[in-house]
Amino acid sequence: MKTFYENAEIYRGGHFAKGRLVVEEGRVVADCEPQPGDRRVDLSGLYLVPGLVDVHVHLREPGFPQKETIATGTAAAAHGGYTTVCSMPNLNPAPDTPEHLEEQLALIRRDALVRVVPYGTITLGQRGCGELADFEALAPYVAGFSDDGRGVQSAELMEEAMRRAAAVHKPIVAHCEVDELLRGGYIHDGVYCREHGHRGISSESEWRQVERDIALAERTGCQYHVCHVSTKESVELVRQAKARGLKVSCETGPHYLLLCDEDLQEDGRFKMNPPLRSREDRQALIEGIQDGTIEAIATDHAPHTAEEKSRGLERSAMGIVGLETAFPLLYTYLVKRGVLTLERLVELMSVQPRRLFSLEGGIATGDKADFTVLDLHAHYAIDPATFRSKGHATPFAGWEVDGRAVMTVVDGRAVYDTLTTNSIR
Ligand code: DOR
Repeated sequence: MKTFYENAEIYRGGHFAKGRLVVEEGRVVADCEPQPGDRRVDLSGLYLVPGLVDVHVHLREPGFPQKETIATGTAAAAHGGYTTVCSMPNLNPAPDTPEHLEEQLALIRRDALVRVVPYGTITLGQRGCGELADFEALAPYVAGFSDDGRGVQSAELMEEAMRRAAAVHKPIVAHCEVDELLRGGYIHDGVYCREHGHRGISSESEWRQVERDIALAERTGCQYHVCHVSTKESVELVRQAKARGLKVSCETGPHYLLLCDEDLQEDGRFKMNPPLRSREDRQALIEGIQDGTIEAIATDHAPHTAEEKSRGLERSAMGIVGLETAFPLLYTYLVKRGVLTLERLVELMSVQPRRLFSLEGGIATGDKADFTVLDLHAHYAIDPATFRSKGHATPFAGWEVDGRAVMTVVDGRAVYDTLTTNSIR
């Protein structure tokens, strides 16, 4: 039996056009005519795009199920329209050996609602120093190698990591942060910080390491991806590296595109690392997504318990949730305001991250059928009480938005569906 998804505006080859998608046994098949017994789903008035991909999420298992689990994190992903997420390795145990990684893979096989592709660590114990993990043993199972949450401090160690990652054809995915420049900071070292007596994180703590790593990527030939770029200097460094033809890419998050330090409130839901930067930085990031320097928007979905986020700017844990708000926020505040086209947003949230990390799924004939159906007319206010994630801390609570995922399909199976049923699974 085939399923015909009909009458949607479908994103194909960079454009939307009215059409239908035919799925059989979990795969997209060539267009054909429905026969008696086939299933037909009417998507009139809706948009169908290759499933959204978030290359930077924290699912917290194994180790921290009080913050999030594979089950709740992937339910949040499905709710937000994501069909694939890449999970960060700041876990316990960290995925630094095949045995430790297997603990996470077993939970993924058991509980994941969407595709989850983990990162392996760069260093043993994800310490940002010491010894490197066994990249060769981990490579078949991971999207790349990252110590996200920590920068790799030693240039020698990073160079060796890049050589070994290049040998197994996987990217290094770097959280860039120079520890000795942090000096106890926890929000951006800008006007708000000074006026309210906080300790600041300088932009230099990020871009110095981006600069170092780009030079190492050039020397080693490694594919190098910078996590959650937040400063104008980092954007410029990546722009120049790309102009020199290096295999360098980067992502930024919705919060860095829509907020700056002028929006800070004395509330833990405004605290994440890197921090919300200046208005100028935000403008540079927008130019980066417009001119192709920034190839992916990733949420850095980083759930914590309500208590961990309740201690104000200075003492709350770093991190906000993002999977269930990214598309509506970016659609409302970038696409509807003319900053980006919808087609470019689909490239940034789906096409390019999938290509960068060689991830499967999509809507081309032969692909595993992973797609998202969007209702661009839904209008509502963001309400954390509706989240599937255990984490509720978001600076966007109460924001009015348009657009939401109404159906998320992975391997031809609806994992979130408000059209034909109200249930998940
Ligand atoms: O805000 C953040 N939260 N930044 C990170 O780098 C780590 C993450 C987390 O794991 O909570």
